[in-house]
Amino acid sequence: MPKLNENYQNLKESYLFVEIAHRVAKYAEANPDKKIIRLGIGDVTLPLEPLAVAGLHEGVDAMTSTETFKGYGPEQGYDFLRQAVVDYYAENGISIQADDVFISDGAKSDTGNIGDLFAKDNIVLIPDPVYPVYVDTNVMTGREIIYIDANAENNFLPMPDKHVHADLIYICSPNNPTGAAYNKEQLKAWVDYALENDAVIFYDSAYEAFITDPELPRSIFAVEGAKKCAIEFCSLSKTAGFTGTRCGYTVVPQELVFKASNGEEMSVNAMWKRRQTTKFNGTSYIVQKGAAAIFTKEGMAQCRENIAYYQKNAKTISDVLSKKGIRFFGGKNSPYIWFECPKGMDSWDFFDYLLNNAQVVGTPGAGFGKNGQNFFRLTSFGTHESTKEAMERFEKLF
Ligand code: MLT
Repeated sequence: MPKLNENYQNLKESYLFVEIAHRVAKYAEANPDKKIIRLGIGDVTLPLEPLAVAGLHEGVDAMTSTETFKGYGPEQGYDFLRQAVVDYYAENGISIQADDVFISDGAKSDTGNIGDLFAKDNIVLIPDPVYPVYVDTNVMTGREIIYIDANAENNFLPMPDKHVHADLIYICSPNNPTGAAYNKEQLKAWVDYALENDAVIFYDSAYEAFITDPELPRSIFAVEGAKKCAIEFCSLSKTAGFTGTRCGYTVVPQELVFKASNGEEMSVNAMWKRRQTTKFNGTSYIVQKGAAAIFTKEGMAQCRENIAYYQKNAKTISDVLSKKGIRFFGGKNSPYIWFECPKGMDSWDFFDYLLNNAQVVGTPGAGFGKNGQNFFRLTSFGTHESTKEAMERFEKLF
């Protein structure tokens, strides 16, 4: 008999969004006449930008002739896309090298897989509430996790505690689910903490394109010293509506070097390259052509138009919450709006209440951690029409 990874026994039975989908399917089956509006999982609704589509077509066309056909590509991504990412950072005043960039199929895989490079006996620091992938993947490995409380008192932006040691630190900013985003000074405190503790920060910046405040950094590499202690994960899922198309990128600076127990220095960049070339055959050429097209000036302008569309939804949601006197966070530098459950309900009760009485699906805060117990998340990634209708139903209910 094989010995199983029994750490899986310590996981919840299903992944958060699978659990929600299951509950909604059950309700839909019992109530076939009800029109359900889904503002739960952060999945986009607008079609791809015309230039992304043109790029994808170009990729497909290349596959049709012997001269331009592409088989296996470089596992870390084609040079044209890695360079496009470097240029994108440069526009924000941040200098990285093409060899720091690894093209992927999205931030979920990379934030989930990065743990492969680190031993089991590292202490992991994870804010609560947060995107469940960080917790679940470390539970799968059996690592010790310490949680740091994010709550209304600290505006959901917890700061490092110098009395607590950690080796692997997860930060998501703008945060999923709370929408809170760190400023540069706060991020510097995290970088200083990581450097003092010889720790590494896994910085998830999947929502950077939603930052509207020019004072807020869009990358942890805006902070001096970050290249010695951080890996940044980014995704085109929300920036360019690639949730179904799948493309992201991870920046592993060549400066990120740690000492092994035998005293030898190990480059995390070289380790990630070794890992990816072994376990990953690269993002498809076709998808990378589509991605490269959105990194052009015109492509990015088309992305910005779609983002503005979703930002309008965020305002629709925030306006109703303000009107009803419901305390909320996010929605400004983030596509997520995070609010206190009305009537003192806990978040799963509120989920059922909203589904049963307004046929609106959101995400219960408890799914992101204990500090989400009395909070609820709505996404702005619906259509204008469905968002407006959902909030009209919401307004009537409260
Ligand atoms: C979410 O709703 O939290 C995200 O869409 C999930 C994801 O990006 O995997």
